[in-house]
Amino acid sequence: MREAFIAGNWKMNMTPAKGAEFATALVKELADCKSKVLVAPPFVTIPAVSQALKGSNILLGAQNMADHLSGAFTGEVSAEMLKEVGVSVVILGHSERRALYGETDAIVNAKIRLALSQDLDVIFCVGETLAEREAGILKDILYRQVTEGLKGVDALQMSRITVAYEPVWAIGTGKTATPDDANEAHAYIRAVVGSMYTKGVAESLIIQYGGSVKPSNVKDLMAMEHVDGALVGGASLTVDQFVPIAKFN
Ligand code: 13P
Repeated sequence: MREAFIAGNWKMNMTPAKGAEFATALVKELADCKSKVLVAPPFVTIPAVSQALKGSNILLGAQNMADHLSGAFTGEVSAEMLKEVGVSVVILGHSERRALYGETDAIVNAKIRLALSQDLDVIFCVGETLAEREAGILKDILYRQVTEGLKGVDALQMSRITVAYEPVWAIGTGKTATPDDANEAHAYIRAVVGSMYTKGVAESLIIQYGGSVKPSNVKDLMAMEHVDGALVGGASLTVDQFVPIAKFN
């Protein structure tokens, strides 16, 4: 059995004060949660949330990371900086980073390899746009993103990677992929990983679904064979919504 992994991507929401208050509430509410849970606040909110999460079962993530170790990269944040404030997982390749900030498969790959070399775990996001799905090239897109993103990552390092399948058309739109659609895409991603590594690596890979996950649809999604978790955006921002998602089981 693969462990359920529920992650909250706060995106550009929550100041340090609000984030700390919210994290404190989550610590209390999720003390008995059976799933692995992570929150990924904005960079400046991370230290305050890190303090609030101390000693809890909730992991701390970042939403992005520089593709260099240090130096003249104005506006960037390094792996070392993230680790020092308690981050253990970094989300890379999110569709908003790809679409709005020009992150290519090559940049995502460089960041993944750098994060792994710095002992950070990775949530690696992939997913197609509506135009790509309608053009019937869903599998081509997923194949390219998965194989290019994982280039140079070895089988041992794969235990530190979670893949998040986030169809772009389902993000923040209220349109969720049906459980069958999600399962089919996840099964395909698992097959691609199996062809790159081994059956064992593919079987133990955690694949999260992301895109309008809510308390009302999380159970049906998580019931699917290949859906092992959720990467939650909007519904990760309130106790009322995130707690029942994390405690779906
Ligand atoms: P929503 O849950 O708001 O659709 O966002 C999904 C997402 O992009 C998580 O990374």
